[in-house]
Amino acid sequence: MLLDAADPQVGPVPVRPARSAGPDDAPDVWPSTARVQDGALHIGGVSIPHLARACGTPLYVLDEADVRRRARQWHAAADRVHYAGKAFLSTEFVGWIRDEGLHLDVCSGGELSLAIAAGMPAHRIAMHGNNKSIDELRAAVHSGVGVVVVDCTEEIERLAQLAAATNRVQDIYVRVTPGIVADTHAYMATGGDDVKFGFPIAGGYAAAAVRRVLGLPALRLRGVHSHLGSQILDLSGLREGAHRVGALLADIERAHGLRIGEVDLGGGAGIAYLAGQRRLEPDRFVAALRDGLRTSWPHPVTLAVEPGRAIVGTAGVTVYEVGVVKDRALRRFVSVDGGMSDALRPSLYGADYTAFVASRAADGDPVLTSVVGKHCETGDVVVPSVALPDDIAPGDLLAVPATGAYHAAMASNYNLLPRPAVVAVADGRAKLLVRRETPADVLARDGGGAPIDLAAAARRVGPSSTTSP
Ligand code: LLP
Repeated sequence: MLLDAADPQVGPVPVRPARSAGPDDAPDVWPSTARVQDGALHIGGVSIPHLARACGTPLYVLDEADVRRRARQWHAAADRVHYAGKAFLSTEFVGWIRDEGLHLDVCSGGELSLAIAAGMPAHRIAMHGNNKSIDELRAAVHSGVGVVVVDCTEEIERLAQLAAATNRVQDIYVRVTPGIVADTHAYMATGGDDVKFGFPIAGGYAAAAVRRVLGLPALRLRGVHSHLGSQILDLSGLREGAHRVGALLADIERAHGLRIGEVDLGGGAGIAYLAGQRRLEPDRFVAALRDGLRTSWPHPVTLAVEPGRAIVGTAGVTVYEVGVVKDRALRRFVSVDGGMSDALRPSLYGADYTAFVASRAADGDPVLTSVVGKHCETGDVVVPSVALPDDIAPGDLLAVPATGAYHAAMASNYNLLPRPAVVAVADGRAKLLVRRETPADVLARDGGGAPIDLAAAARRVGPSSTTSP
């Protein structure tokens, strides 16, 4: 419908069903300890309005008990679980993962340094990445990571040289793509043959990589790795992908007489973001992989998996303060004090969320609302469309659930906004995982026009510097 500019404002449109989904209406999208008491949201026995007063907003809140519960469920379902650190990492968090018996998957030198600093035993770390730098590979070998997931031919050679130079034999997985395009957002599908990751099984790329690895005494082929993608809910692709990996293991045995005893079939188990959606539980995810493998590889195998979102996604909530309520012809816009710098997924993937008034019982009639951020873009949306109560007002707190994975991790300083703090709650107590950035932090990298020494760079040989300017 096109509205003429001269049309009178018709005000917010009433919608059904009644209201945004709080923890009582949609427990699957909230942390397991989330409750509403006297109208205020509580998580881990901590009042969210009190926490917001103590820490400011926007604020990422993680339910420790929920993270640990999910970690235990995954631990029970698979032979080995590598938590995918890209979903969220902090040193305290790594301690939870370590104590629950999980391994850790890292995909950069920064994640590796954090994992080591947090006391994760190196042999329980797997190092990922499709273009690991020499420095990253060296750090992986020197710190003694359990396994490097090799992704390309160059890396096989570089890693073998680094390992040989330190008299080590480095365990590796060869990452393969089984030619399955997962039923998910195109940006998150990694198992087809037209992607930048790994070696396609089709066309013999994976077999050639295996052959090369087996010719290098500094590398030990411990297993094969495959990851279909993220936010997967459909089991058939997982089954077929595992079947194709099993067939590759059989080919390797035929060609080289080597019976591989370990596979890592990745992460990607989907979660519920909205009321009524379902999550892919660990036992069903793992059973689908085992079923698929069995059809082509009947031998015993250690099965590792790499869930990230499924462990931390629904344990996390973002708390915002409402600043502006603007009624327009087609909807109401509620502007909060964050936006796409702390919640990139709606603008990057068109992801959908719900929101809930966390500071009081808001019992107004539901109106069609977009929760938007404070950035200078129309696409700066936190919750595209939700029926929020019409008595919402500046100063109210809004909680957006299912933001534990890939929110803090993908936060930026767009428009020079400082990134929010991350706090954990459990048993009525709160602790700081990551402090809020200050305006001084944000300014600290400003170069101010300082001269760059090109002559020194010209004299230096070797790779470009990653430490300066
Ligand atoms: N293993 C590998 C090799 C991966 O690349 C990923 C995710 C995972 C495991 C964990 O996937 P999860 O279980 O968390 O779905 N930023 C996006 C998702 C991209 C994830 C990239 N890799 C998002 O916000 O949804």
